[in-house]
Amino acid sequence: MEEIEKEKLPRHIAIIMDGNGRWAKKKNLSRISGHLKGVDSVREVVTACREMGIKVLTLYAFSMENWQRPKEEVTALMGLLKEYLLKERDEMVKNNIRLSAIGRLEDLSPDVRATLDEAIKQTKKCDGMILNLALSYGGRSEILYAVHGILSDLKKGRIKEEEIDLSSFPQYLWTRGLPDPDLLIRTSGESRISNFLLYQIAYTELYLTETLWPDFNREELQKAIVDYQSRERRFGLTSEQINGMEE
Ligand code: FPP
Repeated sequence: MEEIEKEKLPRHIAIIMDGNGRWAKKKNLSRISGHLKGVDSVREVVTACREMGIKVLTLYAFSMENWQRPKEEVTALMGLLKEYLLKERDEMVKNNIRLSAIGRLEDLSPDVRATLDEAIKQTKKCDGMILNLALSYGGRSEILYAVHGILSDLKKGRIKEEEIDLSSFPQYLWTRGLPDPDLLIRTSGESRISNFLLYQIAYTELYLTETLWPDFNREELQKAIVDYQSRERRFGLTSEQINGMEE
């Protein structure tokens, strides 16, 4: 397989981890077994990103819409999340990974929320990589919350109308402080964004693969990064302008 160029790494990779259910169905297993195997892929991808030198990894672990899935599945997913956090937090500290989370975190049950907060606190000083989990996340809601935040600050006189611009607005999003994703990966052959990071992906490179999430691994990740590195990112400029900047 082609090697990754170290100096052209994406700073922030975001992943829509899709296909756990289909993976399980193909093997005549329960959907929950698919999610369980999906957690192994999470572990492998987090480790690989850390070793490769990726600075931010955002994983779409649970959307606001996912609450409407059958109760047993929601309970199982929350259980897997809690177990993952409990099992991995020492490993995260050891590997210098800081945990963060975006989404309507108040929707989480008190015990899952407490486990999450504890892991975030425990990894607070780590600065090798940020593992950012999207939990009860929705992109449209994130934008609406940002609008409410700005209106509230405007009323309190903390911001002036003329200061609302492309540099201040992102500070009101859940992703405040994080760079926009350079690469967005979606597994399992679907070609949609599903309400993920709507504001932040304006210039993100998309990589869609047929591979189901439980089968996604280090090699698949390497393939995605090599593909990303072959692209020319123009941010609305011409090819000549971009090449001129590099000289
Ligand atoms: C999509 O597969 C996957 C999810 C909705 C959940 C992703 C969760 C995990 C991988 C495990 C828990 C996460 C962490 C961070 C420990 P799907 O069920 O929509 O698959 P389908 O489209 O084939 O039905």
